[in-house]
Amino acid sequence: MCGIVGFIGANDAKEVLLTGLEKLEYRGYDSAGIALLNDNGVSVTKVKGRIATLRDKVDEDVMATMGIGHTRWATHGEPSEDNAHPHQSGSGRFTLVHNGVIENYNEIRDEYLVGISLKSETDTEIVVQLIEQLANEANDVLGGFRKALSVLKGSYAIALIDNQNPDLIYVAKNKSPLLVGLGNGFNVVASDAMATLKETNRYVEIEDKEVVLVQRDRVEIQKLDGTVVEREAYVAEIDASDTEKGTYPHFMLKEIDEQPFVIRKIIQEYQDKNDTIKLDNDIRKAMQKADRIYIIAAGTSYHAGLVGKQFIERLANIPVEVHIASEFSYNMPLLSENPLFIFISQSGETADSRSVLVQTKALGHPALTLTNVPGSTLSREADYTLHLHAGPEIAVASTKAYTAQIAVLAILAVDSARAKGINLSFDPLQELAIVSSAMETLTDQKEEFERIAKDMFETTRNAFFIGRGVDYFVVQEAALKLKEISYIQAEGFAGGELKHGTIALIEDGTPVIAISTQENVNLSIRGNVQEVAARGANTCVVSMKGFENDSDQFVLPQVHELLTPLVSVIPMQLLAYYAALHRDCDVDKPRNLAKSVTVE
Ligand code: F6R
Repeated sequence: MCGIVGFIGANDAKEVLLTGLEKLEYRGYDSAGIALLNDNGVSVTKVKGRIATLRDKVDEDVMATMGIGHTRWATHGEPSEDNAHPHQSGSGRFTLVHNGVIENYNEIRDEYLVGISLKSETDTEIVVQLIEQLANEANDVLGGFRKALSVLKGSYAIALIDNQNPDLIYVAKNKSPLLVGLGNGFNVVASDAMATLKETNRYVEIEDKEVVLVQRDRVEIQKLDGTVVEREAYVAEIDASDTEKGTYPHFMLKEIDEQPFVIRKIIQEYQDKNDTIKLDNDIRKAMQKADRIYIIAAGTSYHAGLVGKQFIERLANIPVEVHIASEFSYNMPLLSENPLFIFISQSGETADSRSVLVQTKALGHPALTLTNVPGSTLSREADYTLHLHAGPEIAVASTKAYTAQIAVLAILAVDSARAKGINLSFDPLQELAIVSSAMETLTDQKEEFERIAKDMFETTRNAFFIGRGVDYFVVQEAALKLKEISYIQAEGFAGGELKHGTIALIEDGTPVIAISTQENVNLSIRGNVQEVAARGANTCVVSMKGFENDSDQFVLPQVHELLTPLVSVIPMQLLAYYAALHRDCDVDKPRNLAKSVTVE
């Protein structure tokens, strides 16, 4: 979490930094700051709160052609102005922004910083103080910077400025994302290319433990030992307009509406000239070789993994386990002889997933990442990548990435089945086309979901979602969406499990939303709805055409029984959206959260 941006050029750095930070706010938004360096020295502005507050506070009159900025998601130390970045060394000579977690900050303080008083509670201040100590000792800033990096344990993306040298930004990374963007007469540094797309679309990746010296007209990448590294730039294929809300009030609503187009894009990207599936042959072979697949993911991506397991087991006949990334190391299962690890991650940066990848790579097991960000850490470090093609997802609550993940998993499962010679009547590309139209029908009926959300959630403190079979996976996602953006305590349960305890929570008016899209569970889930209604619950059934009852609140357009999560989730996303809206919550930036969770 946390977002970093840096600029060095000929124009005013302030605007580039503030605009960049606005684009990075999805990475954390509890405090922010910028440092501008000019002939009068360094000027640091910090606030508790959002970039808009920072913009108001920054002195318009300070003109500088280089600077660094930061938006924070607190790890060490509460959100406050003191703990906000940039942090400065004791003499004020060095100013630094950091994304990541320094694991050995206590040891560094005890070994290197005895007697130095610290102004904040952050691990970051330790880093900038350490750099000053070591730079003074070596009488060489670059040498001190390198030495400091060799002392740090943990994750970091760092941009450092030295007020005695307004022509250089020192940059380094380990495990946290950071890119250098190349311009004409200027260069930028950013956690994500989205932050600086207005300036440039040419970027250079930085690898872990490299040092980058960023000047106005030159960028030099070095290994920690000083060896110079040559690396080609790439063009970031993101349309700057994809990162704007346009006429939408919130990114979340825009991204919900984009889902039919994302599905069409996936069909296009994964279809070859003969209308069959287009997939990297190496991925096909890896799937063939696997005697068991381990899906690793967090949050919404984990929920997509649960649906994906059904596809791979039912269609391709390969056993699959789905694991929460942060739990995998503690509850590591007995691995099969030829496992394949599939990492599902919208951002491709989730630290919990990455730590499993590091562990399983060390064991020599192959890995495939499904991600929306092809150049991301999980993508680069896995053997293979499948791109989700969902376009930038900016709202913190994931919507279009979830449906894209499920669609790509369906294609992967069918491809693997076909490669094994299994004859399937299910054609995912054709069925996804039907899904895409069904999604559009749903996104066109927003007033209906706004009405249901008002009825069910306007004043409630809690809510339950129930489903069976594949619908159980979707209700877990529905509950996560509702709780993260509306702060209503919500849980998704297997319909049959309620009577084993949870039904005790049902009172007069408790909202219970049931999804029923499968013939084999239709009657039993309706039985569960009756059980809670008899105890006073305010019930709402969302069913699939073909299995509906007259009393159902909403009937979904029919799609193939395997792909129902792709449509049943849309009302759930819209219900969560309108619940949050009517409760005056910050839909796109819910409290305490960040989009890209780069700490374990
Ligand atoms: C919820 C949400 C999170 C993410 C989770 C994993 O709406 O967005 O639960 O799904 O943090 O993130 P990725 O997919 O980037 O690994």
